[in-house]
Amino acid sequence: MNNYVVKKICCIGAGYVGGPTMAVFANHCPNIKITVVDINQERIDAWNSDDISQFPIFEPQLDKLVLNCRNKNLFFTTNLEQSISEADMVFISVNTPTKTKGVGAGKASDLKWVEASARQIAKFSNSHTIVVEKSTLPVKTAETIKKILLSSQENNLEKTEKSFSVLSNPEFLSEGNAIKDLENPDRVLIGGDDEKAIDALSEIYSNWVPKNKILKTNIWSSELSKLTANAFLAQRISSINSISALCESTGADINQVKKAIGMDTRIGEKFLSPGPGFGGSCFQKDILNLVYLSSFYKLEEVANYWQGVIDINNWQKSRISRLIVNYLFGNVSEKKIAILGFAFKANTNDTRQSPSIDVCKDLLEEGAHLSIYDPKVENSKIIDDLQNDLNKLKVNQGYGYWEIASSVLDAANGSDAIILLTEWDEFLNIEWEKLIKLMRKPAWVFDTRSCIDYKKARKAGLNVWKIGNSLI
Ligand code: NAD
Ligand code: UGA
Repeated sequence: MNNYVVKKICCIGAGYVGGPTMAVFANHCPNIKITVVDINQERIDAWNSDDISQFPIFEPQLDKLVLNCRNKNLFFTTNLEQSISEADMVFISVNTPTKTKGVGAGKASDLKWVEASARQIAKFSNSHTIVVEKSTLPVKTAETIKKILLSSQENNLEKTEKSFSVLSNPEFLSEGNAIKDLENPDRVLIGGDDEKAIDALSEIYSNWVPKNKILKTNIWSSELSKLTANAFLAQRISSINSISALCESTGADINQVKKAIGMDTRIGEKFLSPGPGFGGSCFQKDILNLVYLSSFYKLEEVANYWQGVIDINNWQKSRISRLIVNYLFGNVSEKKIAILGFAFKANTNDTRQSPSIDVCKDLLEEGAHLSIYDPKVENSKIIDDLQNDLNKLKVNQGYGYWEIASSVLDAANGSDAIILLTEWDEFLNIEWEKLIKLMRKPAWVFDTRSCIDYKKARKAGLNVWKIGNSLI
């Protein structure tokens, strides 16, 4: 049996996964033509921009990789038909957010973009095509994709040589580290039952990933492993955050506890940083999906167990908002509060599910005047996230208001408190002496990431609240 030869790849979805992943593929596989397609013209134009600051995604090192291959073997386009029809392998890398209405609303993933992609592949492909699930999907989605593809084979009126293999190849990159993760993954997971197709994908990765890191499983294990990996990671954060609250009540210090438990090699030191709760587009969505699947299979205890991880996360965000209000004499109405960081973590411009959004909304509800600064997030995203119009409507009803600040100093000027919500490097070396002169006294800093030099802040005269530590 001949092996499949992959000369052309199409990736549907030019987002946080499609863009960086294909940039890395293109750099390691100069002989493969890679086309990244999207329905969003603005996004494609941004990827094609001569000005790298206009790229739709900020990721360290990404611009260099794109510039190295763009219009050589890496193309960004909206021409779906052509890209699919010439491709030997098509990656589905579209968004899979939580459904907001209908069956499974609030829990199940909305698969309409995945289904649309499968239908487009079914329509436009005209030879054997390896279809790769790159998006994070509920277990058994491959079955739906296969059914759609099969129906196109059966109704193939043009009698072209259409046939398909379906693989699952979930992505484990984390934002802000995308290129490092893609260049040097802990593992690459390929699930499927067509050995030739698995070999073809494995061959591509083996251009830069050692063969012993390429793990081959059945397709359902692959789909479920991705949801499980995210659930385990999120569970660690909820665990440490729950203990951060206990530290604040007992006099223990979360960083000391973190170190003590992290040195146990069975626990490990990574992913134990306390914070305002996990954000990002995936942890909550993927756990909700796991909860939904467990309930679907009548495993209520399993569903409740994972729901607890989400519940603690929501509680952490709201307890932080509440304690800020309490420390500021139970009243923040009309008080200026500086919000440092709006991205859900450092080194990304992504604000999806950012804890900053919840904390800001809680404080606006209390009537605060927020001045928000983030070094990378575009103003338009902050406006979308805080719903500008709603804000304006509420201004006369005691609801607060907010503005975008151009720097840390600008945000802090005239404020009663600084709330550090994202651990950007820029915030680690704030000159507190300079800052406090601009603030109203008593001046506060609330460090939800435990990352500032609190001794310097204290010395400058600020009151300091630091997550997981009541003794400052
Ligand atoms: P994203 O929203 O940034 O990008 C998805 C893109 O797909 C959008 O630009 C959208 O316009 C496009 N799209 C949707 N339907 C389309 C269609 N029919 N044809 C062409 N384009 C279409 O999403 P993302 O963050 O890249 O996530 C994609 C998937 O990868 C999700 O399932 C997510 O769970 C998973 N994932 C994300 C990350 C991450 O760090 N963001 C990491 C691992 C896995
Ligand atoms: C996460 C996973 O780490 C990736 O492996 C996965 O591919 C991805 O989700 C996905 O499926 O989308 P990401 O959300 O980009 O990646 O970022 P993380 O570094 O995991 O951070 C998620 C959230 O947890 C952030 O809000 C971060 O600040 C928070 N976090 C992380 C903590 O509060 N403490 C930690 O110790 C680590």
